[in-house]
Amino acid sequence: DRDELEARARAVKEQLGRRLFIPGHHYQKDEVIQFADATGDSLQLAQLAAKNNEAEYIVFCGVHFMAETADILTSEEQTVILPDLRAGCSMADMADVFQVERAWAALTDRFGETILPLVYVNSTAAIKAFVGRNGGATVTSSNAQKMVAWAFSQKERIFFLPDQHLGRNTAYALGVGLDEMAVWDPYEETLQGNGDFDKVKVILWKGHCSVHENFNVRQIEHIRQTKPETKVIVHPECSWDVVQQADYAGSTKYIIETIRNASPGSRWAIGTEMNLVNRLMHEHPDKEIISLNPYMCPCLTMNRIDLPHFVWALESLSEGTVVNRITVPKEVAFEAKLALERMLALA
Ligand code: 13P
Ligand code: SF4
Repeated sequence: DRDELEARARAVKEQLGRRLFIPGHHYQKDEVIQFADATGDSLQLAQLAAKNNEAEYIVFCGVHFMAETADILTSEEQTVILPDLRAGCSMADMADVFQVERAWAALTDRFGETILPLVYVNSTAAIKAFVGRNGGATVTSSNAQKMVAWAFSQKERIFFLPDQHLGRNTAYALGVGLDEMAVWDPYEETLQGNGDFDKVKVILWKGHCSVHENFNVRQIEHIRQTKPETKVIVHPECSWDVVQQADYAGSTKYIIETIRNASPGSRWAIGTEMNLVNRLMHEHPDKEIISLNPYMCPCLTMNRIDLPHFVWALESLSEGTVVNRITVPKEVAFEAKLALERMLALA
Protein backbone atom coordinates (compact mmCIF):
# COMPACT_ATOMS: atom_id res chain seq x y z
CA ASP A 1 0.00 0.00 0.00
CA ARG A 2 0.94 3.64 -0.23
CA ASP A 3 2.33 3.96 3.33
CA GLU A 4 4.54 0.95 2.79
CA LEU A 5 5.83 2.24 -0.58
CA GLU A 6 6.57 5.63 0.97
CA ALA A 7 8.53 4.00 3.79
CA ARG A 8 10.55 2.02 1.23
CA ALA A 9 11.35 5.18 -0.74
CA ARG A 10 12.49 6.94 2.44
CA ALA A 11 14.69 3.99 3.37
CA VAL A 12 16.57 4.10 0.03
CA LYS A 13 16.96 7.86 0.25
CA GLU A 14 18.47 7.49 3.68
CA GLN A 15 20.75 4.65 2.60
CA LEU A 16 22.13 6.47 -0.49
CA GLY A 17 22.28 9.96 1.02
CA ARG A 18 24.03 12.47 -1.24
CA ARG A 19 24.91 9.77 -3.76
CA LEU A 20 21.31 10.15 -4.93
CA PHE A 21 19.67 13.29 -6.31
CA ILE A 22 15.97 13.51 -7.19
CA PRO A 23 14.85 16.49 -9.29
CA GLY A 24 11.09 16.86 -9.87
CA HIS A 25 9.16 18.90 -12.42
CA HIS A 26 6.16 20.94 -11.19
CA TYR A 27 3.77 18.74 -13.22
CA GLN A 28 4.71 15.57 -11.32
CA LYS A 29 2.30 13.81 -9.00
CA ASP A 30 2.40 14.68 -5.27
CA GLU A 31 3.11 11.03 -4.46
CA VAL A 32 6.57 11.36 -6.03
CA ILE A 33 7.20 15.10 -5.71
CA GLN A 34 7.22 14.68 -1.92
CA PHE A 35 10.56 12.86 -2.33
CA ALA A 36 12.17 15.40 -4.66
CA ASP A 37 15.39 17.05 -3.46
CA ALA A 38 14.55 20.00 -5.72
CA THR A 39 11.54 21.01 -7.77
CA GLY A 40 11.51 23.42 -10.67
CA ASP A 41 10.46 24.38 -14.15
CA SER A 42 12.41 23.05 -17.14
CA LEU A 43 15.01 25.82 -16.97
CA GLN A 44 15.67 25.36 -13.27
CA LEU A 45 15.95 21.59 -13.67
CA ALA A 46 18.48 21.99 -16.50
CA GLN A 47 20.47 24.45 -14.38
CA LEU A 48 20.42 22.07 -11.41
CA ALA A 49 21.68 19.20 -13.54
CA ALA A 50 24.49 21.36 -14.93
CA LYS A 51 25.53 22.33 -11.39
CA ASN A 52 25.35 18.93 -9.74
CA ASN A 53 28.64 17.09 -9.92
CA GLU A 54 28.23 15.21 -6.69
CA ALA A 55 25.35 12.74 -7.13
CA GLU A 56 26.15 9.33 -8.60
CA TYR A 57 22.51 8.66 -9.42
CA ILE A 58 19.96 11.15 -10.66
CA VAL A 59 16.47 9.71 -10.51
CA PHE A 60 14.54 12.12 -12.68
CA CYS A 61 10.90 12.77 -11.91
CA GLY A 62 9.82 14.34 -15.18
CA VAL A 63 9.68 13.27 -18.81
CA HIS A 64 12.15 11.72 -21.23
CA PHE A 65 13.53 14.91 -22.84
CA MET A 66 14.29 16.32 -19.37
CA ALA A 67 16.21 13.19 -18.39
CA GLU A 68 18.15 13.39 -21.67
CA THR A 69 19.03 17.00 -20.91
CA ALA A 70 20.21 15.99 -17.44
CA ASP A 71 22.38 13.26 -18.97
CA ILE A 72 23.91 15.74 -21.45
CA LEU A 73 24.69 18.27 -18.72
CA THR A 74 26.17 15.86 -16.17
CA SER A 75 29.43 13.94 -16.26
CA GLU A 76 29.96 10.45 -17.66
CA GLU A 77 30.28 9.04 -14.15
CA GLN A 78 26.79 10.20 -13.26
CA THR A 79 23.82 8.00 -14.09
CA VAL A 80 20.43 9.43 -15.03
CA ILE A 81 17.38 7.25 -14.46
CA LEU A 82 13.79 7.75 -15.63
CA PRO A 83 11.50 5.59 -13.44
CA ASP A 84 9.14 4.81 -16.34
CA LEU A 85 10.49 4.87 -19.90
CA ARG A 86 7.00 5.51 -21.23
CA ALA A 87 7.10 9.02 -19.74
CA GLY A 88 7.51 10.86 -23.05
CA CYS A 89 6.02 14.13 -24.29
CA SER A 90 3.40 14.43 -27.01
CA MET A 91 4.91 17.71 -28.15
CA ALA A 92 8.47 16.36 -28.40
CA ASP A 93 7.02 13.46 -30.43
CA MET A 94 5.73 15.95 -33.03
CA ALA A 95 9.20 16.52 -34.46
CA ASP A 96 11.75 13.92 -35.44
CA VAL A 97 15.23 14.83 -36.53
CA PHE A 98 14.78 13.57 -40.11
CA GLN A 99 11.73 15.77 -40.62
CA VAL A 100 13.72 18.66 -39.15
CA GLU A 101 16.68 18.09 -41.48
CA ARG A 102 14.34 18.05 -44.49
CA ALA A 103 12.61 21.23 -43.33
CA TRP A 104 15.98 22.91 -42.85
CA ALA A 105 17.10 21.96 -46.35
CA ALA A 106 13.93 23.49 -47.83
CA LEU A 107 14.09 26.60 -45.66
CA THR A 108 17.75 27.35 -46.26
CA ASP A 109 17.07 26.83 -49.95
CA ARG A 110 14.33 29.47 -49.73
CA PHE A 111 15.96 31.92 -47.31
CA GLY A 112 19.67 31.24 -47.64
CA GLU A 113 21.89 31.89 -44.62
CA THR A 114 19.42 34.24 -42.95
CA ILE A 115 17.83 31.74 -40.52
CA LEU A 116 18.81 30.58 -37.05
CA PRO A 117 17.15 27.54 -35.42
CA LEU A 118 15.81 27.82 -31.87
CA VAL A 119 14.47 24.75 -30.17
CA TYR A 120 12.21 24.44 -27.13
CA VAL A 121 13.78 22.04 -24.63
CA ASN A 122 10.69 19.86 -25.14
CA SER A 123 12.45 18.02 -27.98
CA THR A 124 14.72 15.05 -28.56
CA ALA A 125 18.46 15.25 -27.94
CA ALA A 126 19.01 14.58 -31.67
CA ILE A 127 17.10 17.76 -32.58
CA LYS A 128 19.01 19.75 -29.97
CA ALA A 129 22.19 18.45 -31.62
CA PHE A 130 20.94 19.60 -35.04
CA VAL A 131 20.30 23.06 -33.57
CA GLY A 132 23.65 23.14 -31.80
CA ARG A 133 25.56 22.35 -34.97
CA ASN A 134 23.70 25.07 -36.87
CA GLY A 135 24.60 27.83 -34.41
CA GLY A 136 21.25 27.91 -32.60
CA ALA A 137 20.19 27.44 -29.01
CA THR A 138 17.57 25.84 -26.81
CA VAL A 139 14.87 27.86 -25.06
CA THR A 140 12.47 27.19 -22.20
CA SER A 141 9.17 28.86 -21.47
CA SER A 142 10.81 31.06 -18.85
CA ASN A 143 13.55 32.49 -21.08
CA ALA A 144 11.91 32.34 -24.52
CA GLN A 145 11.76 36.14 -24.94
CA LYS A 146 15.41 36.55 -24.06
CA MET A 147 16.40 33.76 -26.44
CA VAL A 148 14.29 34.99 -29.35
CA ALA A 149 15.74 38.49 -28.88
CA TRP A 150 19.22 36.92 -28.88
CA ALA A 151 18.44 34.98 -32.05
CA PHE A 152 17.37 38.20 -33.80
CA SER A 153 20.68 39.77 -32.81
CA GLN A 154 22.35 36.95 -34.80
CA LYS A 155 20.15 36.47 -37.87
CA GLU A 156 17.19 38.01 -39.69
CA ARG A 157 14.94 34.98 -39.33
CA ILE A 158 14.20 32.31 -36.77
CA PHE A 159 13.12 28.73 -37.24
CA PHE A 160 11.32 27.91 -33.98
CA LEU A 161 10.44 24.32 -33.06
CA PRO A 162 8.55 22.24 -32.07
CA ASP A 163 5.90 24.35 -30.25
CA GLN A 164 4.21 26.78 -32.63
CA HIS A 165 2.33 28.40 -29.75
CA LEU A 166 5.33 29.24 -27.56
CA GLY A 167 7.08 30.53 -30.69
CA ARG A 168 4.12 32.65 -31.85
CA ASN A 169 3.33 34.03 -28.37
CA THR A 170 6.96 34.93 -27.73
CA ALA A 171 7.66 36.54 -31.09
CA TYR A 172 4.39 38.48 -30.93
CA ALA A 173 5.27 39.82 -27.47
CA LEU A 174 8.52 41.07 -29.00
CA GLY A 175 6.66 42.97 -31.73
CA VAL A 176 6.71 40.49 -34.63
CA GLY A 177 3.35 40.66 -36.44
CA LEU A 178 1.31 37.54 -37.18
CA ASP A 179 1.73 38.31 -40.89
CA GLU A 180 5.50 38.10 -40.38
CA MET A 181 5.19 34.49 -39.19
CA ALA A 182 4.70 31.33 -41.23
CA VAL A 183 4.16 27.71 -40.23
CA TRP A 184 6.17 24.74 -41.46
CA ASP A 185 3.98 21.66 -41.80
CA PRO A 186 6.27 18.63 -41.39
CA TYR A 187 3.79 16.22 -42.99
CA GLU A 188 2.90 18.30 -46.04
CA GLU A 189 6.49 19.61 -46.09
CA THR A 190 5.22 23.05 -47.00
CA LEU A 191 5.42 26.54 -45.61
CA GLN A 192 1.98 27.89 -44.75
CA GLY A 193 0.99 31.48 -44.10
CA ASN A 194 -1.21 34.27 -45.23
CA GLY A 195 1.42 36.84 -45.97
CA ASP A 196 4.30 37.46 -48.27
CA PHE A 197 7.02 34.89 -47.45
CA ASP A 198 9.77 37.41 -48.16
CA LYS A 199 8.51 39.35 -45.13
CA VAL A 200 8.56 36.31 -42.85
CA LYS A 201 10.74 36.65 -39.75
CA VAL A 202 9.63 33.62 -37.77
CA ILE A 203 8.99 30.13 -39.11
CA LEU A 204 7.06 28.01 -36.63
CA TRP A 205 7.05 24.23 -36.55
CA LYS A 206 3.50 22.88 -36.60
CA GLY A 207 3.61 21.23 -33.16
CA HIS A 208 1.75 21.78 -29.91
CA CYS A 209 1.17 20.40 -26.42
CA SER A 210 -1.81 18.06 -26.16
CA VAL A 211 -2.45 19.21 -22.58
CA HIS A 212 -2.48 22.96 -23.22
CA GLU A 213 -4.58 22.65 -26.37
CA ASN A 214 -7.47 21.89 -24.00
CA PHE A 215 -7.74 25.55 -23.00
CA ASN A 216 -9.75 27.85 -25.23
CA VAL A 217 -11.23 31.33 -25.52
CA ARG A 218 -14.78 30.13 -24.78
CA GLN A 219 -13.64 29.08 -21.30
CA ILE A 220 -12.15 32.53 -20.71
CA GLU A 221 -15.34 34.23 -21.93
CA HIS A 222 -17.33 32.04 -19.55
CA ILE A 223 -15.12 33.12 -16.62
CA ARG A 224 -15.47 36.78 -17.65
CA GLN A 225 -19.26 36.46 -17.63
CA THR A 226 -19.75 34.34 -14.53
CA LYS A 227 -16.79 35.35 -12.33
CA PRO A 228 -15.68 38.80 -13.48
CA GLU A 229 -13.25 39.26 -10.57
CA THR A 230 -11.34 36.09 -11.45
CA LYS A 231 -7.96 36.64 -13.11
CA VAL A 232 -6.92 34.21 -15.83
CA ILE A 233 -3.31 32.98 -15.91
CA VAL A 234 -2.09 30.54 -18.55
CA HIS A 235 1.06 28.80 -19.77
CA PRO A 236 2.51 30.10 -23.10
CA GLU A 237 2.05 26.61 -24.62
CA CYS A 238 -1.61 27.71 -24.91
CA SER A 239 -2.67 29.11 -28.27
CA TRP A 240 -2.16 32.76 -29.24
CA ASP A 241 -5.84 33.72 -28.83
CA VAL A 242 -5.95 32.18 -25.34
CA VAL A 243 -2.78 34.01 -24.30
CA GLN A 244 -4.15 37.28 -25.76
CA GLN A 245 -7.40 36.94 -23.79
CA ALA A 246 -5.70 35.90 -20.52
CA ASP A 247 -4.60 38.42 -17.90
CA TYR A 248 -1.19 36.80 -17.43
CA ALA A 249 0.92 34.18 -19.20
CA GLY A 250 4.18 32.52 -18.20
CA SER A 251 6.08 29.37 -17.33
CA THR A 252 5.19 27.06 -14.45
CA LYS A 253 7.63 28.99 -12.24
CA TYR A 254 5.95 32.28 -13.19
CA ILE A 255 2.49 30.86 -12.48
CA ILE A 256 3.59 29.58 -9.06
CA GLU A 257 5.20 32.90 -8.11
CA THR A 258 2.24 34.96 -9.31
CA ILE A 259 -0.22 32.92 -7.22
CA ARG A 260 2.13 32.94 -4.22
CA ASN A 261 2.41 36.76 -4.35
CA ALA A 262 -1.31 37.34 -4.94
CA SER A 263 -3.36 38.84 -2.14
CA PRO A 264 -5.55 36.66 0.08
CA GLY A 265 -9.09 36.41 -1.24
CA SER A 266 -7.99 36.88 -4.86
CA ARG A 267 -9.56 34.62 -7.48
CA TRP A 268 -7.70 32.73 -10.19
CA ALA A 269 -8.46 30.48 -13.15
CA ILE A 270 -5.30 28.65 -14.20
CA GLY A 271 -4.63 27.25 -17.66
CA THR A 272 -1.99 24.62 -17.13
CA GLU A 273 -1.47 20.98 -16.15
CA MET A 274 -3.69 19.46 -13.44
CA ASN A 275 -1.14 18.32 -10.83
CA LEU A 276 0.24 21.83 -10.58
CA VAL A 277 -3.22 23.43 -10.41
CA ASN A 278 -4.28 20.99 -7.64
CA ARG A 279 -1.08 21.66 -5.70
CA LEU A 280 -1.62 25.42 -5.90
CA MET A 281 -5.20 24.98 -4.67
CA HIS A 282 -3.98 23.05 -1.62
CA GLU A 283 -1.09 25.38 -0.89
CA HIS A 284 -3.25 28.51 -1.08
CA PRO A 285 -6.52 27.84 0.74
CA ASP A 286 -6.84 31.61 1.26
CA LYS A 287 -7.25 32.15 -2.51
CA GLU A 288 -10.01 30.90 -4.76
CA ILE A 289 -8.29 28.80 -7.44
CA ILE A 290 -9.94 26.85 -10.25
CA SER A 291 -8.75 25.22 -13.44
CA LEU A 292 -9.59 27.24 -16.56
CA ASN A 293 -10.84 23.98 -18.06
CA PRO A 294 -13.36 22.62 -15.53
CA TYR A 295 -12.51 19.03 -16.47
CA MET A 296 -8.86 19.59 -15.45
CA CYS A 297 -6.03 18.68 -17.79
CA PRO A 298 -3.60 15.97 -16.76
CA CYS A 299 -0.38 15.30 -18.65
CA LEU A 300 -0.69 11.54 -19.02
CA THR A 301 3.01 11.03 -19.66
CA MET A 302 4.12 13.09 -16.64
CA ASN A 303 1.70 10.96 -14.61
CA ARG A 304 3.45 7.77 -15.63
CA ILE A 305 6.05 8.47 -12.97
CA ASP A 306 4.09 7.08 -10.06
CA LEU A 307 5.08 5.76 -6.66
CA PRO A 308 5.42 2.07 -7.69
CA HIS A 309 7.78 2.91 -10.61
CA PHE A 310 9.69 5.36 -8.47
CA VAL A 311 10.22 2.87 -5.63
CA TRP A 312 11.21 0.16 -8.12
CA ALA A 313 13.91 2.42 -9.63
CA LEU A 314 15.20 3.42 -6.17
CA GLU A 315 15.26 -0.09 -4.74
CA SER A 316 17.07 -1.41 -7.81
CA LEU A 317 19.83 1.08 -7.03
CA SER A 318 20.05 0.00 -3.44
CA GLU A 319 20.46 -3.57 -4.70
CA GLY A 320 23.25 -2.45 -7.04
CA THR A 321 21.28 -2.58 -10.33
CA VAL A 322 20.59 0.37 -12.59
CA VAL A 323 17.22 0.25 -14.39
CA ASN A 324 15.91 2.63 -17.07
CA ARG A 325 19.15 4.47 -17.57
CA ILE A 326 18.94 7.38 -20.04
CA THR A 327 22.09 7.69 -22.12
CA VAL A 328 22.51 10.12 -24.99
CA PRO A 329 25.19 8.95 -27.45
CA LYS A 330 28.41 10.96 -27.08
CA GLU A 331 28.41 12.65 -30.53
CA VAL A 332 24.77 13.70 -30.11
CA ALA A 333 25.39 14.92 -26.56
CA PHE A 334 28.37 17.01 -27.66
CA GLU A 335 26.37 19.02 -30.22
CA ALA A 336 23.21 19.19 -28.11
CA LYS A 337 25.32 20.62 -25.30
CA LEU A 338 26.37 23.49 -27.57
CA ALA A 339 22.71 24.48 -27.94
CA LEU A 340 22.01 24.08 -24.21
CA GLU A 341 25.12 25.98 -23.17
CA ARG A 342 24.27 28.93 -25.43
CA MET A 343 21.01 29.14 -23.47
CA LEU A 344 22.53 28.58 -20.02
CA ALA A 345 25.14 31.26 -20.67
CA LEU A 346 22.37 33.81 -21.33
CA ALA A 347 19.85 32.59 -18.72
P1 13P B 1 7.98 24.81 -17.86
O1 13P B 1 8.22 24.10 -16.59
O2 13P B 1 9.24 25.33 -18.43
O3 13P B 1 6.96 25.90 -17.71
O4 13P B 1 7.47 23.76 -18.92
C1 13P B 1 6.19 23.26 -19.02
C2 13P B 1 6.10 21.96 -19.69
O5 13P B 1 5.19 21.67 -20.42
C3 13P B 1 7.11 20.97 -19.45
O6 13P B 1 6.85 19.89 -20.23
FE1 SF4 C 1 4.84 17.55 -23.08
FE2 SF4 C 1 2.70 19.10 -22.71
FE3 SF4 C 1 3.17 17.06 -21.04
FE4 SF4 C 1 4.76 19.23 -21.00
S1 SF4 C 1 2.61 19.15 -20.48
S2 SF4 C 1 5.41 17.08 -20.97
S3 SF4 C 1 4.74 19.78 -23.20
S4 SF4 C 1 2.72 16.89 -23.25
